[in-house]
Amino acid sequence: MAPTALLLLPVPLLLLLGAPGGSIPPPGQVARMARFLSARCVWGSLASLSCRRAPGAGRPFANVFSVSDGGSGVPYMYLTPLEISVQDLQCNPTASMVMTLAETDYCRKHGYDPQSPLCCRVIFSGTVMKVNGSEEAFAKDALFSRHPEMADWPRDHGWYFAKLNITNIWVLDYFGGVKTVTPEEYYSVQPQSQVQKNTDW
Ligand SMILES: *[C@@H]1O[C@H](CO)[C@@H](O)[C@H](O)[C@H]1NC(C)=O
Ligand SMILES: *[C@@H]1O[C@H](CO)[C@@H](O)[C@H](O)[C@H]1NC(C)=O
Repeated sequence: MAPTALLLLPVPLLLLLGAPGGSIPPPGQVARMARFLSARCVWGSLASLSCRRAPGAGRPFANVFSVSDGGSGVPYMYLTPLEISVQDLQCNPTASMVMTLAETDYCRKHGYDPQSPLCCRVIFSGTVMKVNGSEEAFAKDALFSRHPEMADWPRDHGWYFAKLNITNIWVLDYFGGVKTVTPEEYYSVQPQSQVQKNTDW
């Protein structure tokens, strides 16, 4: 893009260029938007189904997890069996996770309420699985480069690397209702630019 064209862009858009995931996809390119959110968001809210005894047994339970996809589209997490939601996942690994541009400055700078369809979000459904072998090494690099303090989390907590194995994807990127994307469409999106290891927000 020519320097003069850059000057004409609104500031929030300028901030989004060159950051992980490239620039924000236009409305309607929903698979790209889903990958953009996965590349950009540093945390997601994950809902599990509670396996605990009363109160709350069998009910949805929402929590926050730090994520990083390393540019792959796969949300990786660093989990410990001591964590309350992880205990749910050990008895029922199905989960839903949402990532939203409300995590970034984008919605606030545009004046979009977090619940506005213009404050784009992706909702995933799938199962949380431990990762092994070369995928484990990839997950570690993706997570520790983006969340450096993870390397210092208590060694006796039994931390392990996991992913949300995505089976269903919903994207809200504009008015007119939620749109669906298949995992095949999602994983076939070509990254727009090299994903940087460290984000500044
Ligand atoms: C990791 O290995 C275990 C058993 O060795 C297997 O059950 C599990 O599905 C593997 N996870 C992945 C993501 O391949
Ligand atoms: C992982 O997700 C794929 C779809 O992306 C699905 O075909 C597969 O069955 C899932 N595996 C598990 C163990 O849930």
